[in-house]
Amino acid sequence: MEQQLKQLEQEALAKIEVASNLKELNEVRVAYLGKKGPITDLLKGMGKLSPEERPKMGALVNTVRENVTEKLEQKVAQLEELAIQEQLEKEAIDVTLPGRPVRIGNRHPLTRVVEEIEDLFIAMGYEVAEGPEVEKDYFNFEALNLPKGHPARDMQDTFYITEETLLRTHTSPVQARTMLEKNGEPFRIICPGKVFRRDNDDATHSHQFMQIEGLVVGENIRMSDLKGTLNTMAKKMFGEEREIRLRPSFFPFTEPSVEMDISCFKCGGSGCNVCKHTGWIEILGAGMVHPNVLEMGGYDPKKYSGFAFGMGVERIAMLKYGVEDIRHFYTNDNRFVSQFHRTEG
Ligand code: PHE
Repeated sequence: MEQQLKQLEQEALAKIEVASNLKELNEVRVAYLGKKGPITDLLKGMGKLSPEERPKMGALVNTVRENVTEKLEQKVAQLEELAIQEQLEKEAIDVTLPGRPVRIGNRHPLTRVVEEIEDLFIAMGYEVAEGPEVEKDYFNFEALNLPKGHPARDMQDTFYITEETLLRTHTSPVQARTMLEKNGEPFRIICPGKVFRRDNDDATHSHQFMQIEGLVVGENIRMSDLKGTLNTMAKKMFGEEREIRLRPSFFPFTEPSVEMDISCFKCGGSGCNVCKHTGWIEILGAGMVHPNVLEMGGYDPKKYSGFAFGMGVERIAMLKYGVEDIRHFYTNDNRFVSQFHRTEG
């Protein structure tokens, strides 16, 4: 009997070993450990054994059952593990495949120019100030020494909303607003923003465009401070070799008033198509803040003085990047805007 048991165990273990799926294993289980299996049969025959042999055989049968059961469980676990491996292999994602490229946007050329100018002036102690695009006639004109009926108002064809409200024609109303806000304290500001004028759109004109304005108010602010500041800006924006030239001009809110030219960055001054063969390119308007403007802003013109300048952002961008039509800035054509990827930083 002992012999038989050992043989059965060997058989069962061998079948388990070669079983390749859960179904086959179950068949082995039923065949050897089931109620009709040979081990059960052997147990039934134990009655014929002597009382001394019975516990010995009982223990042996139990060991065989345990061994076969244990082996079965091991094999089940092994097969399950294998099945998981196979599934993982089937469902594997190739992480080395290149991804779909993500298109990265970039700053609009006008934003780039504004930020470049802002950075420069922030480094010189200026604050960035902003004002509304729908403005009061008072701030756009009157507080800038342009009373109602003043002929110089004709220089800026205006979109009026009512008698007293309009779309601002320049960023200069931010000057008047800031002076009132600062309440007599000295300050330096730089103000970028959109402005609007009644104009027929063409390659160099747009009814909406951008300006950036600067204003310094304090004690002992002189024309030489204005000139030094503009000179620094011209070199930063258009290259260290640039020279500036101030020509007398007229703005009702500055006295004296000037227009600033830079030496042509293309030909260096000898004359070419960019500078229309003059060697100079007009960049901005500027001047010393008019005493009337200071007074309306709450500053005593005997104690305080200041300078102001204002320029068109599109014009700077057109010169800097060689853009031949102002309308390119507004049509959102990707072929145009994607050319301004930052190469630095
Ligand atoms: N506001 C003026 C314009 O739009 C420019 C300017 C600003 C001139 C400040 C002098 C001082 O033409």
